[in-house]
Amino acid sequence: MLDITNLQTELNNKSPRKILRIALEQFDNIAISFSGAEDVILIDMALQMKKEIQVFSLDTGRLHPETYRFIEKVRKHYQIDIECLSPDTLKLETLIKEKGLFSFYEEGHQQCCGLRKVEPLKRKLSQLDAWITGQRKDQSLDTRQTIPEVQIDSAFSSTNKPLVKFNPLLNWSSAQVWDYIEAYQVPYNPLHQQGFISIGCEPCTRAVLPNQHERAGRWWWESEAKKECGLHATNIKTNQ
Ligand code: ADX
Ligand code: SF4
Repeated sequence: MLDITNLQTELNNKSPRKILRIALEQFDNIAISFSGAEDVILIDMALQMKKEIQVFSLDTGRLHPETYRFIEKVRKHYQIDIECLSPDTLKLETLIKEKGLFSFYEEGHQQCCGLRKVEPLKRKLSQLDAWITGQRKDQSLDTRQTIPEVQIDSAFSSTNKPLVKFNPLLNWSSAQVWDYIEAYQVPYNPLHQQGFISIGCEPCTRAVLPNQHERAGRWWWESEAKKECGLHATNIKTNQ
């Protein structure tokens, strides 16, 4: 039986490679959650440690064309499967019929993210023992400062099976990620060259100005503390 407290003590402040290595050693049924942004380095690192890795992306239907092309580029570059998860058609059609295609600007992003991201994620996570994300502390001063390197994902664990979540990039800065991308010639999303730092869905992401925080480009019409879409619901609880 895995002792999360001990494991967290071991991984506290450790490098991405160390955290990733332990994650892949401890779990066979584990997958990387790839957003189509600079978290691509998780795939690059993981493949240096293990030939067979599981990767999935949440295809919300609203990603930028550049992101779709990039996901495909990564699939071909590394010759891996990237499982693209779609939202429930009927629920989506009902939402659009009732509220239109841009209800999130008026009502907040929770319902749309719930349908397009959280439900498909929940479906996928119910088949896994552990998952790996590209979350970093420096991505949000409001919601990502206190997350640990490894945690029981209480938001997605089932009653009979705890789900473990690893955040290998937690202690790296954006600059370190980009040093890695350059040093290892890792393919990257071309939106990063157009002022996009954090990349999510097209209607909910915009480029930021010099010296603006990256999170300012996400759901900019909402308050900072609400800028989690439900994938990382434990971040909100931790900070309340
Ligand atoms: S979000 O919750 O605000 O959208 P963010 O864009 O910061 O998340 O990305 C943090 C991590 O969440 C990513 O590195 C990835 O592991 C996961 N993630 C975010 N969006 C997706 C997506 N569309 N598909 C798969 N994983 C995602
Ligand atoms: Fe919907 Fe925007 Fe959330 Fe994407 S980020 S699922 S478009 S509310």
